[in-house]
This record gives sequence, structure tokens and C-alpha cells, in this order.
Amino acid sequence: MAKVKPELFEVLNDPKVEATLARLYKEALKQGWTMVFHFLPKIFQYFGKGIDWKTENESFYDDKYTPIVPDQGTFLYMQARALKAKNIFEFGTSYGISTLYLGKAAKDNNGQVISTEYLPHKVKIAREHMEEAGLSAYVKILEGDARETLKSLNTEWDFVLLDGWPDMVFTIFKRIEPNLKRGAVIAVDDVVGFQPSMQEYLDYVRNPDNGYLSTTIHPKKGMEFTIKVK
Ligand SMILES: C[S@@+](CC[C@H](N)C(=O)[O-])C[C@H]1O[C@@H](n2cnc3c(N)ncnc32)[C@H](O)[C@@H]1O
Repeated sequence: MAKVKPELFEVLNDPKVEATLARLYKEALKQGWTMVFHFLPKIFQYFGKGIDWKTENESFYDDKYTPIVPDQGTFLYMQARALKAKNIFEFGTSYGISTLYLGKAAKDNNGQVISTEYLPHKVKIAREHMEEAGLSAYVKILEGDARETLKSLNTEWDFVLLDGWPDMVFTIFKRIEPNLKRGAVIAVDDVVGFQPSMQEYLDYVRNPDNGYLSTTIHPKKGMEFTIKVK
């Protein structure tokens, strides 16, 4: 993302959400060079067979936004609106950029987002961002490891974004799978850059016997787009 232009967020039609997103993307962009230098030695891997998450130092990401890009956010917002999704689940809040798109869809659909994040400082700040955008009433952020916090939920999900660490995606997916409504959409970010850690998930949702339609789409970044059809 080269520049943060207000037009990027216009479709949301909500000045508070748009202003919060513009501010946060500007903050995220300040980490741009740190991210570039981090990935530079692995650039061929990233754009080739993908990086195995096990080789990453997780603490590097403790203060990083690592958000979805605006094209992905817009796409997810539009999809959640098209589905009239009322119950939206997110794995990996970070500072809440993706959660703002999902929260705005929940507000428009008269629904809710349950998002999960295990770093307490990110949870605190993400909640402040929801407040700033006027979305607190539609978004609940569960603090802790999603494998634990999920246990308290038996919501039936219409729409899911899995954007926590790649090696955990399949585990989290299997936990929520019994609660996916027929027709539910599941989006997973970074399936190209971290393909080795996503392979089990991709093999599963791309096997029609398991009841899904799935393909990688590219709203700027590779994202697996899956529909539960059975
Ligand atoms: C790629 S970032 C999420 C970015 C966010 N979706 C956005 O677009 O702004 C991944 C986040 O998932 C969190 N995370 C990773 N594993 C987790 C787990 N097991 N439970 C809860 N959160 C987790 C990390 O702390 C990190 O903040």
C-alpha cells in the first residue's frame, strides 16, 4: 500500500470508521521498512514456495500491525454485507484494522463480531480503536489464546476471518467447523506467503468431499476464500 487516501474507505459510508482506518493504516505504514528488512532475506521464499511459520521469531510481531490491506478489507466488508452475516468470527485481532471492517459489516447487518487476540496490550488498544470508530457495541474482543477462549462460545458462524499465526489456522478452523452455518464464508489471509504452514488447511477445504468450495483470490494479497456448501 503506497499511500493512504480517503477514497480507499469511502464504501464504508461511515466517517468515524473511515477516519479510524485512515489513521491506523498510516501508523501501520510507519512499520513498513522494518517489515521490508525483516522479509528481505526471505523474499524468494515468500514469493516462491512460501515461508514455514516455524522459522519466524514470533516476538518480532509483538508490536506489529501486520494488517490486511484495504482491498481485502473492502472485499470482506462487501461479502459480509452480501451474506447479511450476523455472527462474524475473527482469529487474530492485532490492533483491530480488519476488525473495523468486520465491525462495520456487523453494525450494518445488525449483528456482532467476536474477535480473538492473545497479546493483552493489543487487546487494550484494539478496544480503544473500536470505541474511536463507534463500533464497540458490535465487537467483542476475547483476550487470550483463541484455542482456549473459543471454548466458551457456541455461536453459529456466518462469516469467518482467520488471520492469526498461520500454523494455528487449521486447529482454529477445526474448532469452529461444527458451528459453521451452511453457506458460511471463511477467508484466510497470507495463504501464499506462508503456504507451507497452511497446506493442511488448504488440502482440507479444497477436497470437495469435506463440503467446501475453495480457491485463492488476490485482492492485492493471496487470501483463501472458502464457502461451506454442505
Ligand atoms: C496477522 S495479525 C492479525 C492482523 C489483523 N487481522 C488485521 O488485519 O489488522 C495476527 C494476530 O494474531 C494473534 N494471534 C496469533 N495466535 C493467536 C492465538 N492462538 N490466539 C489469539 N491470538 C493469536 C497475534 O498476536 C497477532 O496479533
